Amino acid sequence: MSESTLISVSYISKATQDMGVLALMRLTDQAAQRNKKLGISGVLFYENQHFGQILEGPRSEVLKIWEKIQADPRHQQVRLLKMEEITARSFPAWSMRFFLAKEILEKMPSLTGVLDGLPEHDIELLRLMRASAE
Ligand SMILES: Cc1cc2nc3c(=O)[nH]c(=O)nc-3n(C[C@H](O)[C@H](O)[C@H](O)COP(=O)(O)O)c2cc1C
Repeated sequence: MSESTLISVSYISKATQDMGVLALMRLTDQAAQRNKKLGISGVLFYENQHFGQILEGPRSEVLKIWEKIQADPRHQQVRLLKMEEITARSFPAWSMRFFLAKEILEKMPSLTGVLDGLPEHDIELLRLMRASAE
């Protein structure tokens, strides 16, 4: 398997504490800076004490960050939605685009309720994260 194989990892998790805007900005800013160096791109959203994230990039780099993210004390109940090989990035322009899910729900009110992170909503969550970044 080539070093440049691209993969995508998506998950949802629950913040250990409700995060303020400043803490979210700091997290996103640091993540984006590191991701940029590692060739990782993606999106992160926060709502109602839940995170959702899609990471994409070279396999080895994404797996390293994924290990760190899972061990991060700022969140818990980290649940993988999907890990897959991809042929092209969905978010090439974003080293980590952050948004509040409220912004998405304004655009797509039919998705209200999906953010509770219930297992049966996996596919909707993925669609939501992808659609919101378009
Ligand atoms: C919800 C969430 C998303 C995160 N996303 C990223 C990310 O995209 N890239 C990244 O480098 N770190 C991200 N982090 C931070 C990592 O968990 C970790 O703190 C960071 O990689 C620094 O690790 P180190 O101090 O061991 O080097 C995220 C943390 C949380 C809680």
